[in-house]
Amino acid sequence: MRKKLIIGNWKMNPRSAEDARKIFAAIKRKAAKISSVTTVICPPFPFLNLLSPDKKVALGAQDIHSEQDGAFTGEVSLAMVANAGGRYVIVGHSERRALGETDEFVNKKLMQALKHGMNSVLCIGEKERDEGGHYLHFLNAELVAALNKIPSTHLRHLVIAYEPIWAIGKKEDEAMKPSEMHEMTIYIRKVLKSLYRGVDVESVPVLYGGSIGESNAEAMIRDGMVDGLLVGRQSLEPEAFGAILALADKTR
Ligand code: PGA
Repeated sequence: MRKKLIIGNWKMNPRSAEDARKIFAAIKRKAAKISSVTTVICPPFPFLNLLSPDKKVALGAQDIHSEQDGAFTGEVSLAMVANAGGRYVIVGHSERRALGETDEFVNKKLMQALKHGMNSVLCIGEKERDEGGHYLHFLNAELVAALNKIPSTHLRHLVIAYEPIWAIGKKEDEAMKPSEMHEMTIYIRKVLKSLYRGVDVESVPVLYGGSIGESNAEAMIRDGMVDGLLVGRQSLEPEAFGAILALADKTR
């Protein structure tokens, strides 16, 4: 049984370093009691250096730039993240894509992170569903573009997070249904298999993200057949996030 991967994406929260420290410390206390979950918190860049990860809770960044250094005002490089203690990076989150990040840029960032052995969480997800199944073509194209020229030797550091945009930031009962997620898990693995023939793609964790909380985490892991979750708002609430960790810990 492989460990579940539960990643908290704090987005542009909280406002102060003091709050970030408090929330992180409370999450560490919750995670201390958990054994079969890898927990990752992705705070905003200014807080990365201030938070001390431990054996149970790792740190990650919400984005990186595709170049190592140079004249890129406002950007943060992979080396900076790694030097600040980051062991994971999120790449291609829909909120970044909405700001203009292209498939090509996502591919470059992913290549940069994977080539340096950074655990990389590639986010994919369609804006809306349609009867004709066009969203599946969209997802296929997103995966193909993001993984362009990425060799199979890099796959051991890859994580795929499926986050349908229509299910992000909603109420928990508006998240995707676990049975629908099960289909998506199968579909994503099928696309990976077609891209990497003869390679064991089963080892690439597939996560679900979008309006996850205490009420739907367990069913999503069990019936959605996912390897973990990407949690937004509820990762800023130590009680709720701790409950999600505990549920993930016991769900088989
Ligand atoms: P949410 O965000 O849990 O607040 O819906 C998920 C995400 O965007 O990663």
